Amino acid sequence: MNTAIAVIGGTGRVGRIVTRKLLDRGESVRVIGRSAERARRHLPPRAQFFLGDVRDPASLLTPLHGCSAVVYTVESGTDTTGPDSPQSTLHAGVINTLDALLRPDDPMPAQFVLVSQRHVTHSEHPMNAYGRMLDWRLAGENAVRASGLPYTIVRPGWLTDRTELADDGRVLLEQGDRRDGYVALQDVAEACVQALYCPSAQGLTFEMRGGAGAPPEDWEGLFGGLSADVPPQALALAPAPGPAPVRALA
Ligand SMILES: NC(=O)c1ccc[n+]([C@@H]2O[C@H](COP(=O)([O-])OP(=O)(O)OC[C@H]3O[C@@H](n4cnc5c(N)ncnc54)[C@H](OP(=O)(O)O)[C@@H]3O)[C@@H](O)[C@H]2O)c1
Repeated sequence: MNTAIAVIGGTGRVGRIVTRKLLDRGESVRVIGRSAERARRHLPPRAQFFLGDVRDPASLLTPLHGCSAVVYTVESGTDTTGPDSPQSTLHAGVINTLDALLRPDDPMPAQFVLVSQRHVTHSEHPMNAYGRMLDWRLAGENAVRASGLPYTIVRPGWLTDRTELADDGRVLLEQGDRRDGYVALQDVAEACVQALYCPSAQGLTFEMRGGAGAPPEDWEGLFGGLSADVPPQALALAPAPGPAPVRALA
């Protein structure tokens, strides 16, 4: 890439692998997060760290200015309302990031890679009881799809560390949001990085599952075997959810 790549959530489990992989490719990487201490602990010195919070639009302007790409891999809290709710990080945070990227003084459109999750299209799923996490994630996805920026949306299943399971290295990319499954952090990070370099990844939304498919060697071919999203103008995007209903978590 000609200019820097931003990794929002780059101090987290997936984000720090993404960051290292991009640095290994010789990229200039700007990590955005809320904790300088976490950055010191987890990031190699070559990564540039910027204190920023996706809930605070002003904090994103400097680190995102002039970036050619963004990987958004932010974890949310599970409060139904308030600053740590999924609404604030998985929807408002995505919008704030898009707004910063789409400012007229920014020279070129940035690529957007969003880490989402399986089950976002199933609002009846038990995980949605936690602050309507799935509804807000889907609203964040929809904002990216409608932004006009080149994008890829990655929906992992349960994240595992490769060392935690007998992982045979196989990965399946699938669409339709019908299955469950786990996937290694390392494979999700690699998919995010590959999405930045493979033209066939643009305009895709897909789920990832480990222990099925094949060892991913030809990412361009893997992405190319998926169906591109229907263009937003033809897509009936679900409206952002309204106020959260009172809902028992048990
Ligand atoms: N856990 C699973 O099984 C699972 C399954 C599917 C999808 N996912 C999703 O995969 C993504 C990556 O997960 P992970 O395990 O790598 O997450 P993680 O280790 O918890 O890292 C999350 C990152 O988000 C940053 N962050 C949180 N709130 C922020 C804010 N308001 N502004 C800026 N940065 C913020 C954190 O940094 P600071 O706190 O220092 O700001 C951290 O770097 C997340 O979106 C997660 O929800 C997880």
